[in-house]
Amino acid sequence: MKGIATCEATANIAVIKYWGKRDDELILPKNSSLSFTMDEQLKTRTTVMFLQDLKEDEFWLNGKKMDLKEKEIAERMKQLDIIRKRAEINEKALIVSINCFPTAAGFASSAAGLAALAIATLKAADLNLSGSETSIFARIGSGSASRSVLGGFVEWRKGEKDDGSDSIAVQIAPASHWPELRNVIGIVDAGKKKISSRAGMKQTIATSFLYPARMQYIEKVIEEMKKAVIAKDFQKFGEITMRESSDMHAVMLDTWPPIMYLNNISREIIYAVHELNSIEGKIIAAYTFDAGPNVHIYTTAENVARVQKMLQEYRKCCKVLKVFKR
Ligand code: PMV
Repeated sequence: MKGIATCEATANIAVIKYWGKRDDELILPKNSSLSFTMDEQLKTRTTVMFLQDLKEDEFWLNGKKMDLKEKEIAERMKQLDIIRKRAEINEKALIVSINCFPTAAGFASSAAGLAALAIATLKAADLNLSGSETSIFARIGSGSASRSVLGGFVEWRKGEKDDGSDSIAVQIAPASHWPELRNVIGIVDAGKKKISSRAGMKQTIATSFLYPARMQYIEKVIEEMKKAVIAKDFQKFGEITMRESSDMHAVMLDTWPPIMYLNNISREIIYAVHELNSIEGKIIAAYTFDAGPNVHIYTTAENVARVQKMLQEYRKCCKVLKVFKR
């Protein structure tokens, strides 16, 4: 039926991070980024209905009516008006979302949520766009959401154009390319983060001395990472993943005033992963942290139990994710 659609999207976990915009309005990144879109356990399901009798847009998240006038929510929902204009729709929208994981805890819940919103809104508006075209609308809500519209291993290309038409997500390899890959999540703290990534990255660009250096080598690191994934070279993949996570957190720390998302447990886990790898004599586990203290450990199916055991010493709660097929 035209005017209503329900769609799902899952979170992605970046191995080359997006941290910094070249355009705040269009959400255009300073650098390209890479991630794997993860499985159903970190999923958002969203229904969008354009209804004639509705006086105002309504957004319900996990059964709670959200205030669309609140600045952060209004900014993230801008894609709704853009899609409505493009599809020449006048009706207001009723949006109902179910998020099956803690929001704003460094889990990139915004990525799944805003990707699901873009996919469902476009479908309800009867606009049939490709995944890469859809990513442009998801990006308006949240940069990392652009990667969640596609499955498997995804690159969000920074693009060069001022209008952002070439800043799109592209699938580099499907989930079937590396079926043994797993991500074990350790929930270190499920609370809301102290500083939003949007505000944090702006502050980094304005004040960090290290950030320009990061921009000089990051596109090269992306090319190395793509080669490692295509070759399924876990040694290379693991080293780049861990170093890249630390690199992003280094520029966060170099921001003034400093931004610190990692806590003592996160740091203990970093040491524990290196100890595990050193006992093995090779990299079998690779941590990465987003804008929060929770750890995402990439590993392969045969080593999941060892990683879980190691993590359980620090946290009881861990989830094991697979790469999502879409
Ligand atoms: O999508 P945003 O605006 O919440 O940015 C999130 C950026 C990181 O999660 C820290 C890194 C990334 O590339 O996902």
